[in-house]
Amino acid sequence: APAKPKKTKFGPLKDEDRIFTNLYGRHDWKLKGAMARGDWYKTKEILLKGHEWILNEVKKSGLRGRGGAGFPSGMKWSFMNKPSDGRPKYLVVNADEGEPGTCKDREIMRHDPHKLLEGCLIAGKAMHARACYIYIRGEFYNEASNLQVAVKEAYDAGLIGKNACGSGYDYDIFVFRGAGAYICGEETALIESLEGKQGKPRLKPPFPADIGLFGCPTTVANVETVAVAPAICRRSGEWFASFGRERNSGTKLFCISGHVNTPVTVEEEMSIPLKELIERHAGGVTGGWDNLLGIIPGGSSVPLLPKSTCETVLMDFDALSAVQSGLGTAAVIVINKQADIIKCIARLLEFYQHESCGQCTPCREGTGWLNKIMWRFVEGNAKPEEIDMIWELSKQIEGHTICALGDAAAWPVQGLVRHYRPAIEERIREFQEKTSAGNSPPQLKRAA
Ligand code: NAI
Ligand code: SF4
Repeated sequence: APAKPKKTKFGPLKDEDRIFTNLYGRHDWKLKGAMARGDWYKTKEILLKGHEWILNEVKKSGLRGRGGAGFPSGMKWSFMNKPSDGRPKYLVVNADEGEPGTCKDREIMRHDPHKLLEGCLIAGKAMHARACYIYIRGEFYNEASNLQVAVKEAYDAGLIGKNACGSGYDYDIFVFRGAGAYICGEETALIESLEGKQGKPRLKPPFPADIGLFGCPTTVANVETVAVAPAICRRSGEWFASFGRERNSGTKLFCISGHVNTPVTVEEEMSIPLKELIERHAGGVTGGWDNLLGIIPGGSSVPLLPKSTCETVLMDFDALSAVQSGLGTAAVIVINKQADIIKCIARLLEFYQHESCGQCTPCREGTGWLNKIMWRFVEGNAKPEEIDMIWELSKQIEGHTICALGDAAAWPVQGLVRHYRPAIEERIREFQEKTSAGNSPPQLKRAA
């Protein structure tokens, strides 16, 4: 067969190709409304096709984890297919969405809880899981309540529980509320927390696929990843793979916030150009595109991009890592020229210091140091050589910690130094001029 021409244009996504209905305004999120929209349709047939068939469709779809890391889902789920040694297997859904700027899983649980539950059942079948735990962020009170109602409806209708959907498969789903710690979104901290301990990450390996919840093989997967599984099984892996680019396929929820006219969470084709995404769905940058200063494209844990890169970059895993950033959670935080970019990053460092679990030294001490230096940079009360020092410090943290929080704190600083070094130098110069002229230094307005 002749080679398929390489796709160069992405989006707009047609309504019939949207998996999530959050764009459609208010609708009935309960079982009746969900079924009317096609959820739970012939789920029994999907389950009866067996775990290999489901796994194959997910592999063909090219789905990569939507929680931030982008690990190939088909491969990850197949790690659970090792011969049973008598231990039960579990699916844990990571609904502890805490990444600043990210609010896509919240939308799914708020408007489409049944899509998630059906996904839990199908994904659970693919990995021979006995039960599923949905670990939901404590602050998501209403969403947890919707989920709990949906779980009860699904049990009452025989869709989950003993002989789920009449397929002969026994499968329970439990909703567990977290207590407000960002670090519990890290998969092993989440497992610790589910087990009733302090949410502190474990060293990996062993990965949860070998030793996870209660010491049993476990897959921890993000809400969006699990919730797209029914659509993939119904419409085929090829259908999902037809969106986006090779290795970066599917439809994707993007959360656009910051200095845009209409902040939104929207479903679009993967690989859509960043500029087009903002202009089509978020009403453009406030003050116009020329007023753009930079963008954090994937939640606070990925480095920010300067305007010149934002002009052309595509929104997918590979395109964003090629420009030394990442798709992360696809939470696009737009920063315009009226913002103080140094202060924006300092505020993030305050967050990471606060959320560090304190278990490893480079993160516990390093986030504190980064935070302190960044707030001096905001004032300009620093020496120019400290810019190289903060870069070096961030490199000492990156890759030297138990979990990704250390990296997440280092990368925003690196993005700032890489692209906005002149702004920090200018601030230091201004401060030196003011203090040497005998004027008092500017008053630092620090976030509470
Ligand atoms: P990771 O790359 O360590 O792991 C990704 C997944 O693949 C994990 O489930 C891991 O168990 C599995 N895996 C990787 N190698 C494996 C192997 N050899 N055998 C078995 N399983 C394996 O990334 P991590 O730490 O899970 O996630 C980091 C990302 O999380 C960041 O990129 C950040 O964007 C995102 N994040 C998302 C948040 C949110 O609210 N959604 C909050 C904070 C960070
Ligand atoms: Fe805790 Fe930070 Fe170490 Fe992660 S990197 S285990 S949050 S101290």
